[in-house]
Amino acid sequence: MVRDGQPDATSAPFDVPTSARAYGWMLGGKDNYEVDRNFLLATLPSFPECVDIARQNRSFLYRAVRYLTREAGIRQFIDMGCGLPTDDNVHQVAQRFTPEARVVYVDFDPIVLAHGQALLADNASTTVISGDMRDQRAILDHPDVRRLIDFEEPVAVLFLSVVHHLTDADAPRRVLRTVIDQAAPGSYLGLSQVVADDPARGAAMTAHISGGGVPWQTRTPAELDAFVDDLAPVEPGLGNLADWRPDPDQPPLAPVDQDLVPYLGASKTNRGIYEYGGLLRKP
Ligand SMILES: C[S@@+](CC[C@H](N)C(=O)[O-])C[C@H]1O[C@@H](n2cnc3c(N)ncnc32)[C@H](O)[C@@H]1O
Repeated sequence: MVRDGQPDATSAPFDVPTSARAYGWMLGGKDNYEVDRNFLLATLPSFPECVDIARQNRSFLYRAVRYLTREAGIRQFIDMGCGLPTDDNVHQVAQRFTPEARVVYVDFDPIVLAHGQALLADNASTTVISGDMRDQRAILDHPDVRRLIDFEEPVAVLFLSVVHHLTDADAPRRVLRTVIDQAAPGSYLGLSQVVADDPARGAAMTAHISGGGVPWQTRTPAELDAFVDDLAPVEPGLGNLADWRPDPDQPPLAPVDQDLVPYLGASKTNRGIYEYGGLLRKP
């Protein structure tokens, strides 16, 4: 169903898994359905590291937004493919360190929009819009983006754990670069995606996940590097997010559901597939 030009939660698919709901389950969330849980439980025997790498990505998000506000002085964010709200969402981390920070969340899943709007009902400097990140022009032209983001000032554009949802047919370099290439100097791009060091194993993962109905392309680290080769990586550069400025004292994520507990720690022995990314600065 569409109300006021925006889809509502009733238009979310219930017969195929969605990335937002399946990923949310791995973060300890409750807003998911049997189809999402069954999909993951069928995926994990072949790719047991997925629970760890989803959680490593979300922990990186906290450290990245903390860095951007506290050390880089960023006061505005566009979070592409923001996912379902959980603990320590981008605006909560950003506004903890920089109270005046402004955040636009973008996602194409109607459930994300419904939950996001409920969370943000009384936050004037943060909004969530329904948008497909493949159509960057429509996002840039959205009235809420124009109202909250000042493109004369540095901005952080986040594509966290979403680049694998862009296949090569989606022209991922164009998608990732549209905003940052026209943003003010001193802006930042944050990006991450699931990669495989062994292309054959990456191809098997792509076939499994996209075959289940979730748009997906596992890449190699070098393929992701090529999208951002002229931007300046923030130390320690792009890499396994588990190694990006680790902080044992950062707030913990919610515990996982009992069904997923057997997979915790699998990334320690399955090191060939991981979430790869980091932050880059536009000179
Ligand atoms: C794995 S979650 C990542 C959530 C969040 N960025 C994070 O790092 O915790 C991927 C999200 O991207 C969204 N997504 C996937 N393809 C999209 C597209 N073409 N446009 C907008 N959102 C998209 C999904 O709906 C989902 O919420």
